[in-house]
Amino acid sequence: MKMSAMGASLSLWQKRLVTGAMGTAWVSGLALFLIKTLGQTPSEFGLQRHALETPLRAAHGGAMMLVLAAVGSVLAVHVRAGWDTGLRRRSAFFLMGVLILLVATGWGHYYVSHESFRPWIEWLHTGVGIGLAPLFWIHSRRRDPF
Ligand code: HEM
Ligand code: HEM
Repeated sequence: MKMSAMGASLSLWQKRLVTGAMGTAWVSGLALFLIKTLGQTPSEFGLQRHALETPLRAAHGGAMMLVLAAVGSVLAVHVRAGWDTGLRRRSAFFLMGVLILLVATGWGHYYVSHESFRPWIEWLHTGVGIGLAPLFWIHSRRRDPF
């Protein structure tokens, strides 16, 4: 039976932390992708990185740490309470799936060194990552729940 969603609501600070951290991870991730695919320039030593790549990596890594803290705070109450209401389950399911894939492939960036896996990890991470913003918007916007 559908229950009141009151217990599943996030506090204002939590909503800001989740939105800010995910927003920064998304923007910096997308910018990193664009700069890596379009922003490299040929030089006598081969392809040269764009000067913004390193600061963008630092921003992405910092945002990622905040995302993990924000998702941790959501896991503590919201996920269980939200699931019990029976509302927004479909978008919540996909949101959790995307977050798990991002964390797993993010981990892979650091610890998988096998040459044949790396491009797959990077493409999966970026592809799934781009979907995070629309999915988060669908899940969290005010409207009839689904
Ligand atoms: C839970 C959210 C996320 C986590 C935990 C995460 C984690 C990571 C980690 C650990 C790296 C490696 C950083 C480095 O090598 O300097 C990385 C790189 C990257 N991430 Fe994310 N990320 C997240 C979200 C996103 C999103 C939303 C996007 C895209 C919109 C994205 C796109 C990228 C790109 C393009 C790279 C560079 C990949 C490469 O080296 O080729 N990430 N991410
Ligand atoms: C299985 C996992 C999840 C379930 C079952 C779930 C369920 C729900 C439900 C029922 C609502 C509506 C609450 C209301 O009307 O006040 C909601 C809203 C929301 N959820 Fe989730 N959720 C889940 C995971 C997540 C995750 C992982 C995040 C972000 C990291 C998130 C962020 C939000 C936000 C920002 C709102 C809007 C809150 C508000 O307006 O007060 N949810 N969720």
